[in-house]
Amino acid sequence: MSRWSILTRRSPAPLTMLTLTLFSLLLIHPTTAWRPYPHQNTTTTDLQLGPSKKFEGSSEFVKLRYHMGPVLTANITVHIIWYGTWARSQKRIIRDFINSISSTTVRSPSVSGWWKTVQLYTDQTGSNISRTVRLGEEKNDRLLSHGKKLTRLSVQSVIKAAVTAKTKPLPINPKSGIYLLLTADDVYVQDFCQNVCGFHYFTFPSIVGYTLPYAWIGNSGKMCPGTCAYPFAVPEYIPGLKPVKSPNGDVGIDGMISVIGHEIAELASNPLVNAWYAGQDPVAPVEIADLCEGIYGTGGGGSYTGQMLNDRDGATYNMHGIRRRFLVQWVWNHVVNYCTGPNALD
Ligand SMILES: *[C@@H]1O[C@H](CO)[C@@H](O)[C@H](O)[C@H]1NC(C)=O
Ligand SMILES: *[C@@H]1O[C@H](CO)[C@@H](O)[C@H](O)[C@H]1NC(C)=O
Ligand SMILES: *[C@@H]1O[C@H](CO)[C@@H](O)[C@H](O)[C@H]1NC(C)=O
Repeated sequence: MSRWSILTRRSPAPLTMLTLTLFSLLLIHPTTAWRPYPHQNTTTTDLQLGPSKKFEGSSEFVKLRYHMGPVLTANITVHIIWYGTWARSQKRIIRDFINSISSTTVRSPSVSGWWKTVQLYTDQTGSNISRTVRLGEEKNDRLLSHGKKLTRLSVQSVIKAAVTAKTKPLPINPKSGIYLLLTADDVYVQDFCQNVCGFHYFTFPSIVGYTLPYAWIGNSGKMCPGTCAYPFAVPEYIPGLKPVKSPNGDVGIDGMISVIGHEIAELASNPLVNAWYAGQDPVAPVEIADLCEGIYGTGGGGSYTGQMLNDRDGATYNMHGIRRRFLVQWVWNHVVNYCTGPNALD
């Protein structure tokens, strides 16, 4: 794998590698993180295994470690770059999710309850990740300054354009800012749909002029909803799997929400890729959301999502936010050593 795929991988590969490294003589390994990537060749057996096993990612094999780097302990500000064409309704859903992270007025299970697991991570001084996450400035790149196909490197050039724009540049905030590049459903980013639905890293001073923690997340609504907007859509190659109804009526955006949550949680706990991750190899870190990919509720693991909630309208979700409901994957809790979330039943 190139050093670029490192932060982004959402398949079980890193965990498998880790396990193989540590227990090379054992053939069993915990199957926690799961997303239906095409190359994974999900079998019926995998699907049947799901609900019968209750592990929620729990495993004595997972050795998440702190590598002494910074975490985001100051109030976090999320700046957004909207790349391509976005409907106002789509922007509203995403803004509501980010604004929900620190909202105290939302009923349980809430997005702020979900963030509590992320707050459990500390730096060398014992300071926790900030409770406060707010929406910062936004920049539109409607005309696709770097085209309809981005590479991992050109993603940084898009960010550079946004922070150096002549009019209303995004603020430079290396200590507590995170930058989300969100690409519309007709934009392809290197490895999208095959290996990743999003990734995070930090910008290089040689390209952008600053070291800024950032993430890219793509709208998979048209390209691969069965992979990146799972379980609101399912891959055609897995027979018998039924999609669930998305809570905000937009499969691509509702699918993005969980990936946005995944990346924000990892940016907060591993912004410079030298803080919290599992695995021996810093080039292939397994981070706090990677460990719980695909787990949305109690009992989740393998291809089973775990217990989610259903509304009267049939929509499936697992937490409340401002004005709406969301389905967001759980994150690894290093205090109890398994994945936790606000809708846990026990
Ligand atoms: C997927 O698995 C099946 C059964 O194990 C096998 O026959 C098939 O060749 C595999 N396909 C790929 C693309 O690996
Ligand atoms: C801060 O982190 C410690 C260690 O994980 C945890 O015990 C404590 O509850 C956290 N504080 C908050 C406010 O989350
Ligand atoms: C951080 O956010 C809290 C609200 O959650 C606010 O009271 C506090 O003043 C903020 N601190 C800074 C330094 O902006």
